[in-house]
Amino acid sequence: MVINSKTSLQEVLEIIKKEGKTVGLVPTMGALHDGHLSLINFAYSYCDTVVVSIFVNPTQFNNASDLEKYPRNVNNDAGFLKQHNSKTIIFTPDVSDIYNDKVEAESFDFGSYVDFMEGEFRVGHFDGVGSVLKRLFDIVKPDKAFFGEKDFQQLMVVKKLVKITDQDVEIIGCPTSRNEFGLAQSSRNFRLTDSELKVAELIYKALSKAKKMFDNNSIKEIENEIVNMFKDEPAFELEYFSIVKENDLIPTKIKEPKQNYRAFIAAFLGEVRLIDNMALNY
Ligand code: PAF
Repeated sequence: MVINSKTSLQEVLEIIKKEGKTVGLVPTMGALHDGHLSLINFAYSYCDTVVVSIFVNPTQFNNASDLEKYPRNVNNDAGFLKQHNSKTIIFTPDVSDIYNDKVEAESFDFGSYVDFMEGEFRVGHFDGVGSVLKRLFDIVKPDKAFFGEKDFQQLMVVKKLVKITDQDVEIIGCPTSRNEFGLAQSSRNFRLTDSELKVAELIYKALSKAKKMFDNNSIKEIENEIVNMFKDEPAFELEYFSIVKENDLIPTKIKEPKQNYRAFIAAFLGEVRLIDNMALNY
């Protein structure tokens, strides 16, 4: 079922909630793929009803051409979901449903979660993400909302968002869905040619290498190795490789005992910017 307006969605959900059913939300920007499907399946393992929102959120793009080139095809998305799970509710709000007449990001205090990596290279991005999700949570009022660990920094930010805004929704992180060669599923992969898709596997190889090296090498040694792997592949331009402590997402040069560490990568393949991350010691 595809619902285009906020009021129609709320009417449908009111009936569902009155029946005592739980509602899960999977927020997306469309161009649905197997990664989204795995989030939706995850959501069904917790909730009776699943709403998938499709909204390309203008306030989270800090690059106009990225926003313009973002793949959009709601009919394809609806067909794809119908094939896999026809009872899913697809919510496709328009800009005024979300922002009324003021299409602007609110500013949030996400602390150190947004000081580095995506927060540093896409300034304002997480305020945009926070703004749209705050509004989507207000409209849908889901019991739980589901986010992929591929955007791990976003997942941490969203957990903080619901604390700051005191919204009554549980945020569930779901494992990254990958193709058979390890490449993380992403709507941006649709913009890559077949040969670029092969090259893109380097990101997973680099993260796996970092994980393998983690116990017996210094952070500096790991960083040098990964930077060199990318230097050997001229099609790629590495934007950052960072090893961070999971609890604050601040890049670190030393390893402390009893801490969880993650490695994060952002790299350009032509005009397409890809990101991924991996737990290193847990
Ligand atoms: O991860 C995404 O696709 C977007 O950032 C989200 C969570 C749908 C917010 O627009």
